[in-house]
Amino acid sequence: MKVLCIGFGNVARSLARLLIKEPSRSRFLPGLDLQFVGVTSASRGSLENAQGLDLSRALQEIEESGRFQGKNPDFSKLNSLEAVQQLDYDVLIELSTLNLNNKGKPALTYMRTALERGKHCVTANKGPIAFAYQELASLARKNHSRLLFESTVMDGAPVFNMARTALKGCRVVAVEGILNSTGNYVLTQIEQGTSFDEAILKARQGGFAEADPSHDLEGWDAAAKISILARVLMDAEITPTEVSRKGFSTLDLNEISQTVSAGTRVKMVARARIDSGKVLAEVGPEHFPINHPFATVDGTGNILRIETDLMCPLTIRQESPSVKDTAYGVLNDLIELGAGG
Ligand SMILES: NC(=O)c1ccc[n+]([C@@H]2O[C@H](COP(=O)([O-])OP(=O)(O)OC[C@H]3O[C@@H](n4cnc5c(N)ncnc54)[C@H](OP(=O)(O)O)[C@@H]3O)[C@@H](O)[C@H]2O)c1
Repeated sequence: MKVLCIGFGNVARSLARLLIKEPSRSRFLPGLDLQFVGVTSASRGSLENAQGLDLSRALQEIEESGRFQGKNPDFSKLNSLEAVQQLDYDVLIELSTLNLNNKGKPALTYMRTALERGKHCVTANKGPIAFAYQELASLARKNHSRLLFESTVMDGAPVFNMARTALKGCRVVAVEGILNSTGNYVLTQIEQGTSFDEAILKARQGGFAEADPSHDLEGWDAAAKISILARVLMDAEITPTEVSRKGFSTLDLNEISQTVSAGTRVKMVARARIDSGKVLAEVGPEHFPINHPFATVDGTGNILRIETDLMCPLTIRQESPSVKDTAYGVLNDLIELGAGG
């Protein structure tokens, strides 16, 4: 598979490290024969090579100097849109920055363009799926390509994979969970006596906070994720701006550690449910008794409870995900494509 990768930040580099530094894994992945023919960024330059570019050198240049070097034989003057429009590739991996203000663009434009050209799309970027899943899925069907996005929710944990393969015939009637790692990490840190600012700084140093902290702390990231879940699992056309949203600014931070001694914990919960035939979604703080499954999710952990009409509620719980889990989710989508799934 020829791959064009848009964005070469934390997730793309982690994916590159997985592919370069753990090549022994490829023995177990016989269907996966990846050749990167293009890598682009917003400000660090682009690379292209129709025969397959040197991914190790790309990674090394970014790690050492923060950008692709003009003397690299794979160096390219193409910008991201030109690469998506012009290069010969089988799959677009879209890993650029989440842009909610612009309703998922330009990533959405890259993915529309790739799908219109009959290319497969894999993404960890929530914007395009949160704003335009139905449109992109329909484009993919029309052009006989696949649209996969496992890492958009719960960093690569098998949410969509599981629903696609193991919940066939079930109708999802409600989803709820703790979906934002940074928010849960900050809440846990504050309970332990860390200041709000210091907790955010630690989240940024850990590489899991979004580039814009308000995405995490004012509930935008969770709103995007619950929109994706509502769209994909409940066929609702809801956008992040339509999600009823309460973020950290509605919380009295001094009360957070006191609630623990009172036997409850505050958690930021995202929920989508059917009300009078319509799917409604919300994000906001809730108090849970200390032994409730949601109250036991610490640090960067996530949890998702799925209610269906045919099965009893299922809960997926993820402990301490990191960017490597996100990269694995992207890899898993690529493996599915490679296997012709
Ligand atoms: N990090 C995680 O754990 C995680 C988890 C789940 C989902 N995600 C999602 O995965 C995506 C990538 O995350 P990340 O952590 O790798 O982000 P990142 O470190 O901020 O990297 C983003 C990359 O995209 C490039 N970029 C930004 N705007 C662009 C544009 N308009 N066109 C082309 N390239 C552009 C950036 O280029 P420059 O470097 O030149 O700015 C950078 O290379 C995001 O959408 C994020 O929300 C991340």
